[in-house]
Amino acid sequence: DNAYLITHGLAKDTLSRLRDVETEQVSFRKGLVKLGRICGYEIIDGRMETEYVEIETPLEQTMGERVRGLDDVVIINVLRAATPFVEGLLKAFPRARQGVISASRDEEAGRAEDGSFPISVDYVKLPEIHEEDTVIIADPMLATGSTMCTVLEHVVENAVQPENLIVLSAVSAPEGLLRVNDEFDEADLLTVSIDDHLDDDGFIVPGLGDAGDRAFR
Ligand code: PRP
Repeated sequence: DNAYLITHGLAKDTLSRLRDVETEQVSFRKGLVKLGRICGYEIIDGRMETEYVEIETPLEQTMGERVRGLDDVVIINVLRAATPFVEGLLKAFPRARQGVISASRDEEAGRAEDGSFPISVDYVKLPEIHEEDTVIIADPMLATGSTMCTVLEHVVENAVQPENLIVLSAVSAPEGLLRVNDEFDEADLLTVSIDDHLDDDGFIVPGLGDAGDRAFR
């Protein structure tokens, strides 16, 4: 019930290009950057308010509008597939403070009975979170939700609840959205697409393959 679709036409267009098996490494990475930028704009449009400010044009004084809270944004990069996605988000939020967390599925261990994966966390560096912050945790793929739940544990641990806590993904599986929503009711889940299902290996179908591999290999 805390899941929201990003419905901007350009977001859907860009995601469709990312899904295409013919899209090679450079275009794939650029597509993720572009999608991050669009999602950033959509977050501003849908969740942040503007306020009136006095400005002076070269001709006269007038009223303008500014986005409130643009200086209170934290972006958390879930390595590694999120790196180009975050690069795009930074175009919308150039002054964001950034966190980095390396969390990945331990594929060799295989999927557990309940469908989750064990997650290895190798590196965590998060900025301090304040109550006026909009925190965006970016990861292009939300599959079983195992990675995101682990990341969220680190983010909420010892932190005050921020004004907005947003989990942002490009494609999500229904199973993962349900799990994250169940375990972290305080987070809003934003995604460009809710795909059909997870296959036995925990891949999103139809999905876009392995985003990390497609962007970096
Ligand atoms: C992928 C993806 C997510 C995670 C989603 O990363 O980027 O982080 O899997 O799966 P989950 O919802 O089932 O946890 P991966 O572990 O392949 O690491 P990588 O980004 O380093 O390739």
